[in-house]
Amino acid sequence: MKKDAKILVSGIKPTGRPHIGNYFGAMKQYVDLQDSYNSFVFIADLHALTTIQNGKELSENTLNIAIDYLAIGLDPRKTIIFKQSDIPEVAELGWIFNCITTMPYLMRAHAFKDAEAKNKEINVGVFDYPLLMAADILAQDADIVPVGQDQKQHVEIARDTAEKFNKIFGDTFKLPEPLILPNVQTVAGTDGRKMSKSYGNTIELFASDEEIKKAVMSIATDSKGVNEPKDPEDSSLFNLHKLFMSKGKLDELQGRYLEGGIGYKESKEILIDDIISFARPFREKRDKLAQDKKAIVAILEQGRDVVRKRVGNKMEDVRRKIGTKFY
Ligand code: ADP
Ligand code: TRP
Repeated sequence: MKKDAKILVSGIKPTGRPHIGNYFGAMKQYVDLQDSYNSFVFIADLHALTTIQNGKELSENTLNIAIDYLAIGLDPRKTIIFKQSDIPEVAELGWIFNCITTMPYLMRAHAFKDAEAKNKEINVGVFDYPLLMAADILAQDADIVPVGQDQKQHVEIARDTAEKFNKIFGDTFKLPEPLILPNVQTVAGTDGRKMSKSYGNTIELFASDEEIKKAVMSIATDSKGVNEPKDPEDSSLFNLHKLFMSKGKLDELQGRYLEGGIGYKESKEILIDDIISFARPFREKRDKLAQDKKAIVAILEQGRDVVRKRVGNKMEDVRRKIGTKFY
């Protein structure tokens, strides 16, 4: 642990292969900040259970995300990497939060309202999701939580829950802040909507060259011809370029969009080359790491031991305050 450094906590659900929205919106921040924070990054397998109810799939996805974390440059000597379900105290804290939270309050959560609007059969886990997430964050005294824009409300719920607990039982939890970078808060997918595993509009972070080509070629554009001026801000294709180009090159491309003289096909070809050069080193590193699954499991076990100790201490205080521990 670094002395005087703030605490970073975040995680992603093992619900499939990560995409460049996950990377730029959240995962990249874990890597960029690991030298300046005490970082705890996990795989939210209990959250994934709200949608994945197949043991083999969940465990394989979980191991895969651990490999992905290492492949993008998370260093287990700097970042504690662990699996959410290895810390049962978090589920205990989630239950405690259930008991101080009202149903109408949780009914205002966007994710729940979206699920309801889609008329899905909603399980209690989906409804309760924000409180387990609050427990992930508050159990570790997080100062910052790097996430994409879609998770902002969940971090606000964690703050509200900390305040509520503190008011009832006395000062216990820190109030966390979300860290949402403005230019990557919502990366658009190939159809122009938010890039998301659930929309099938992703460009996967570890995709093969062929998969990258196919995904980029499918990006939706309008029907303007090569010489017609194009509004770069109104183009999800141009917005994707922003993630991969240096400022100089981007300014040049922007000029060509505004004046006319570049067609979407050429723009897509440039993007394909840029994504391939960006993704290839990650993919190669990943392929190597994936050969030694035991080493990955050992990292998760080490992480578990560190976090259980920290969270165990925190829970002693919580249990005394709520009255479940008195001898
Ligand atoms: P998905 O919507 O693809 O299922 P997750 O819910 O697993 O993604 O999100 C993991 C992390 O990536 C979260 O911090 C989330 O805010 C971030 N994220 C997901 N999609 C995007 C996006 N399109 N742009 C920016 N950040 C995103
Ligand atoms: N809800 C987050 C997502 O869908 C995953 C998550 C669970 C999380 N617990 C967290 C993120 C705690 C940050 C902090 O991506």
